Amino acid sequence: MKIRSAEFIISNSDVTRCPKDQLPEYAFIGRSNVGKSSLINMLVDRKSLAKTSGRPGKTQLINHFLINKNWFLVDLPGYGYARVSKSTKKVFQKFITAYFSKRKQLVAAFVLVDARHDPQKIDLEFMQWLGENQIPFSIIFTKADKLPKTKLAPQINSYISEMLQYWEEMPNYFITSSSSGLGKEEVLGYIQEINEQISTS
Ligand code: GTP
Ligand code: MG
Repeated sequence: MKIRSAEFIISNSDVTRCPKDQLPEYAFIGRSNVGKSSLINMLVDRKSLAKTSGRPGKTQLINHFLINKNWFLVDLPGYGYARVSKSTKKVFQKFITAYFSKRKQLVAAFVLVDARHDPQKIDLEFMQWLGENQIPFSIIFTKADKLPKTKLAPQINSYISEMLQYWEEMPNYFITSSSSGLGKEEVLGYIQEINEQISTS
């Protein structure tokens, strides 16, 4: 899919104040620092549309980016960020949960996990919660460039085997790197397919 335009629209912590447009949207969620904001920039070819940082806890609000004037990418704060206070964490959790359970325009979520790591409890729990709430999701493995080529496939395979202990089927997944652009066409192609299904239904 060709990205013709990508614009920041609004940030907020209240799902009722998200854009009212009835356009399909795709949300990026995962632990802090996993690379959500970087992936959004990589997908739309804009270096700093979404703000990124080497320090976890950069994204603190729900951010809507309008793409090609007809769908949204949504950047969210990370979960499991240990260094924010307990009360801030609760506020994050509350509006993230509200976003996923109330946002009608959300057509699919992408749960980002670091390609170098084995499944983490917090990610497995979040995926389970999405499943229970019937929110379709795919997994995106990030930072694939940080693993030597020979280690990447075995690591992903071992992640999949562990997932299959909890899920009957492995969710749809993508292997990406925001620094090399790996996975870009696959993720955008997937979004385009859903957008086309929606517009013809
Ligand atoms: P929060 O907003 O804090 O939840 O983090 P985030 O998930 O949005 O992560 P962000 O995109 O800000 O990236 C965190 C750090 O990881 C930054 O220093 C990025 O440059 C780095 N990073 C993100 N993606 C990649 C990648 O694919 N490869 C490499 N090598 N570094 C990456
Ligand atoms: Mg971020």
